[in-house]
Amino acid sequence: MRKCALVLALGLCIAGSSLASAQTPAADSLYKRLGGYDAIAAVTDDFIGRLAADKELSVFFTNRSADVLKRTRQLVVDQLCMATGGPCQYIGRDMKTVHAGMGITEANWNAAVQHLVATLAKFKVPDREQKELLAIASSLKNDVVDQKKM
Ligand code: HEM
Repeated sequence: MRKCALVLALGLCIAGSSLASAQTPAADSLYKRLGGYDAIAAVTDDFIGRLAADKELSVFFTNRSADVLKRTRQLVVDQLCMATGGPCQYIGRDMKTVHAGMGITEANWNAAVQHLVATLAKFKVPDREQKELLAIASSLKNDVVDQKKM
């Protein structure tokens, strides 16, 4: 590091770093390892389908127009695509704002995670990628679950 900083001062570090990346190619993004956009869209559709079919969770999705549901689905795809290193831009609201006031409980959260795990198993997503995706989801838990219901 220190050496690189010194070399950078001489304007030579760029050559050094490109040599380093030629020796150790960057790992593929989670986005690519999951199979790209279509795979992420298929996972999202299956996951949302499971949430909507769950007696406890469907209440959150009832009385919404088909258009609103399509919009939400698209935003989830975009968010997943961006969070996994894909070429999408998430232009939806932040997680705290969008879920505030819904009263999502920790039990609701756990049920949703179970559905996500079932979806990932259905698509035969390997262990490593499952863990990475679940870590992304878990990082959002505090913003999704109603703090009074945790
Ligand atoms: C990591 C977990 C979750 C993620 C990443 C996520 C992501 C999103 C996104 C991107 C939107 C659309 C944002 C927008 O309209 O600007 C959304 C909306 C919504 N989410 Fe979640 N969500 C999660 C968990 C949950 C859970 C557990 C529930 C309920 C069981 C839920 C219920 C909803 C509902 C009902 C909407 C529609 C809100 C509205 O348009 O009025 N979400 N979510």
